[in-house]
Amino acid sequence: MYSDKVIDHFTNPRNVGEIENADGVGEKVSSSCGDRMKVFLKVENDIIEDVKFQTYGCGAAIASSSMMSELVIGKTLQQALDLTNDQVADALGGLPAPKLHCSNLAADALHEAIKNYQETNA
Ligand code: FES
Ligand code: FES
Repeated sequence: MYSDKVIDHFTNPRNVGEIENADGVGEKVSSSCGDRMKVFLKVENDIIEDVKFQTYGCGAAIASSSMMSELVIGKTLQQALDLTNDQVADALGGLPAPKLHCSNLAADALHEAIKNYQETNA
């Protein structure tokens, strides 16, 4: 039911943690289940240099945040803003329907962190 990629990113999540003095921080709480994800960004010249996350949630949410971090490190802020929930789920090889909301957390928390960066650096 879970793809190999989901299992890989859940058992060995990339970029877990926190960035001290992050340039942007965003948080999202799922309205479906109450799980929560926090995203920290390091930004240099409009490029996302680093992403770290803390996910208090299910395995699919952890795998989604890990995949999201890999998809956007090295990308421009605009490219990261364009990342959709579906792209995160697709990159994981799909998620079971009841677990699709878990992948939404990742792009949403990322976008909150970018908004936070843009507001504080306007
Ligand atoms: Fe916690 Fe399902 S949401 S076990
Ligand atoms: Fe809610 Fe996965 S069960 S984020």
